[in-house]
Amino acid sequence: MELDKAFVPTMGALHAGHLSLIEIAKSFSQNVVVSVFVNPLQFENSDDLKNYPRDIDGDIAAAHSAGATEVWTPSYEEIYPGSVEKISAGDLGMKYEGEGRAGHFDGVLTVVDRLFRKVQPGWAIFGEKDFQQLFIIKKWVKASGLPIEIIGAPLIRDIDGLALSSRNIRLNRDDRKSALIISRALKQATHERSVDSARDRLHDVLASEPSFTLDYAEIINEDNFEPATSPRKGRAIVAGWVNGVRLLDNMPMAPQQQTQKVSP
Ligand code: PAJ
Repeated sequence: MELDKAFVPTMGALHAGHLSLIEIAKSFSQNVVVSVFVNPLQFENSDDLKNYPRDIDGDIAAAHSAGATEVWTPSYEEIYPGSVEKISAGDLGMKYEGEGRAGHFDGVLTVVDRLFRKVQPGWAIFGEKDFQQLFIIKKWVKASGLPIEIIGAPLIRDIDGLALSSRNIRLNRDDRKSALIISRALKQATHERSVDSARDRLHDVLASEPSFTLDYAEIINEDNFEPATSPRKGRAIVAGWVNGVRLLDNMPMAPQQQTQKVSP
């Protein structure tokens, strides 16, 4: 009998963050499928789609050396052979990452559904880097009753703290320095004792870097993605731009803040 597959969907330009997902996939199955497909449905901006980094040969080699047994690089026609009916990501699909990017999460769910139908994995691994994406996919899989276990994988950072992203190659040296404000702000905010002070600290630190343009910064509750009311299960989420490059990051509230006793 064929072993259940562990699946890592990607849009390519693979970096150590993606490769960590493949390694985690290997702990679930010896049969690891990686897909590389830049999904037009989830880009609301045609320049962003056109400029999205692509390196198929490098990706195939990197995925295999990280342990993938199959690297699938489907064409547009293979994924979307006819007319496309989009899957709705609901209200949360319109907030945070979805607010300025109409239809983004509908596009993500639609492609993930098509990929799952072809691969039929037992497990699928998604990074916490895209925490809202992970949340929306988990919720949709549960609601659809699909027999696939969704595994969340830790966010991988560069040594200087910058969250790894395929878009980072568009940052020059000065941009990169400015971008470090994000992980610095997250680290300080997640060590605050209350949600209000964490939110304030997040905004204050981010505002101190003139080259950073804020999209949103919030402390959400990991269970429902609503603004948090206590540090327990709280997670700071940030998105913005440095020199036109969109950056996304998040960090859970520090464990000691999540477990602290609240005085009556
Ligand atoms: P992509 O941005 O290529 O990311 C593929 C997977 O790698 C996602 O699950 C993402 O969260 C994870 N990832 C990216 N950077 C990471 C990092 N620094 N640490 C840990 N994991 C990281 O996300 C997508 O593609 C697409 O939306 C996709 C799900 C493939 C649907 O098109």
